[in-house]
Amino acid sequence: MAAARQSDHPDSQFYQSAEEFFPANNKLGLTFDDITLATRYSEILPRDTQLDTTLAENLRLNIPVISSDMDTVTEARMAIAMALNGGLGLIHYNMPERQQLSEVSRVKNHVHGLIQEPIKVTPDESIGDVLALIEQKKFGFSTFPVVDKKGRLVGLLSGHVVKPRYAKKRVSEALTPRAQVHTIRKKDLGKDPIARADKFFTEHIGIHKLLVVDDDDHLQGLITMSDVERITQERNAQFKPARDAHFHLICGAAVSATRNAFGELDRERILNHVGALVERGVDVVAVSTAHGHSKGVGDTVKVLRDAFPKLPIIAGNVTSAAGVEFLADSGANAIKVGQGPGSICTTRIVAGVGIPQMTALYVCARASGRKKVAILADGGVTKSGDIVKALTLSQAVICGGIFAGCNEAPGEVVEISGKFYKQYRGMGSLAAMKAGSAARYGHLANPTQKVAPEGVEALKEACGSVDRVLAQLIGGIQSGMGYLGAANLAQLREKARYIRVSPAGMREAAPHDVVELKTGS
Ligand code: XMP
Repeated sequence: MAAARQSDHPDSQFYQSAEEFFPANNKLGLTFDDITLATRYSEILPRDTQLDTTLAENLRLNIPVISSDMDTVTEARMAIAMALNGGLGLIHYNMPERQQLSEVSRVKNHVHGLIQEPIKVTPDESIGDVLALIEQKKFGFSTFPVVDKKGRLVGLLSGHVVKPRYAKKRVSEALTPRAQVHTIRKKDLGKDPIARADKFFTEHIGIHKLLVVDDDDHLQGLITMSDVERITQERNAQFKPARDAHFHLICGAAVSATRNAFGELDRERILNHVGALVERGVDVVAVSTAHGHSKGVGDTVKVLRDAFPKLPIIAGNVTSAAGVEFLADSGANAIKVGQGPGSICTTRIVAGVGIPQMTALYVCARASGRKKVAILADGGVTKSGDIVKALTLSQAVICGGIFAGCNEAPGEVVEISGKFYKQYRGMGSLAAMKAGSAARYGHLANPTQKVAPEGVEALKEACGSVDRVLAQLIGGIQSGMGYLGAANLAQLREKARYIRVSPAGMREAAPHDVVELKTGS
């Protein structure tokens, strides 16, 4: 009786659960802007919401956001920034295998607050040379460690002697000698280098720089008091960095289903490469291809699962329940869903294939629940509201375009007509395939002009740091959860109620009938 009354309620007639809404719309592929979420009674303030998510038994993130394994999005710098914010970066594979290994090492060895490659000067340079360097590189600092040709610490050139009046003097005449420079051995930094450095600065009044050396006095890095103070403040932030059991930042790496000269899966090469990644401490590998429901991808996942039983494996991309079941049965823990929603993708135009993202996520989520694997919503996210919608059906989102304009993405900023941009290209674009990603799209290693690219080369407006972009996104996700009365992501999935949006409804959703002075971002 109570159930009958419940279903008569106007709210449940209009705002339907995923199980009612998507089957009722099964003749139409729906994406983010086709739907909106209904508000629910709430006792939850956005700032109190929890965003942690589990992608595999031994892979937990503190925020459900992953940066895409694309060559204009994720290398070590991006992966470090993502993990520091509680998320995950997947290092792309459009680079020699050795380089990918060292990118992973850079993330795993990252010590927050330690400037690992500080700008150094040598004793034979003049102060004039140093001033010219500062001017040329626009450095905002003027204190430099001084090292000899072998990289051993000789002293510290303090900012108060880097003045034009001393321009003709040699660095060797002006430096504070080695014996008077405060140093610490890298191995003595311990598990919590920031706490160690913080203690040091408190104990040494007026000292603002601590140099890090190895046993042979080679310079290994520099810690500044201002960085330590900033990081100590950040520690009170709600979302902690994503770290492994040894307190290292977590890092993922993409691998392809590589084939040998006979067109067969190159098991030996795949196993050797992933073995080397595991040795470097990689936390998850992603078998990244455009068509994950295929023999090559299934076999690659099986080979990896057999060889590395505990290694979390992401695989994709699929848009069908059968695809999810296939990859889950092959041994994947988390499955990328998305074919053609990406901002630089042309798969649907070129191949006529792909499914609008919300429908694809619902269909895949039906299978992932049964198979106990996670779903990653990959592509098409342009705003935080899209992430909230995606998270009603998935465990995390993968974003490329949103991060491609960040300082931490690979590539230089270019200026065009007074505006600043960074390059962003699809991994299926001709340029990216020539650089190595052809296998992802099922093409030979050296594609000719005859290959039909499935992605474009584009520009993204430069948008500052990942910290800033993520702060906006996280704020939006928390806000969405507050509206739904969801304290965590499991409750968000449970409480989501959907309704379709008309084109007029979509127009109503964005700012309209005003002259915009400032954009929302
Ligand atoms: P966004 O929308 O975040 O999408 O920029 C990033 C995702 O797009 C996928 N990707 C491609 N898909 N052709 C495609 O059809 C391509 O060239 C291409 N490159 C990347 C990928 O899943 C990525 O995470």
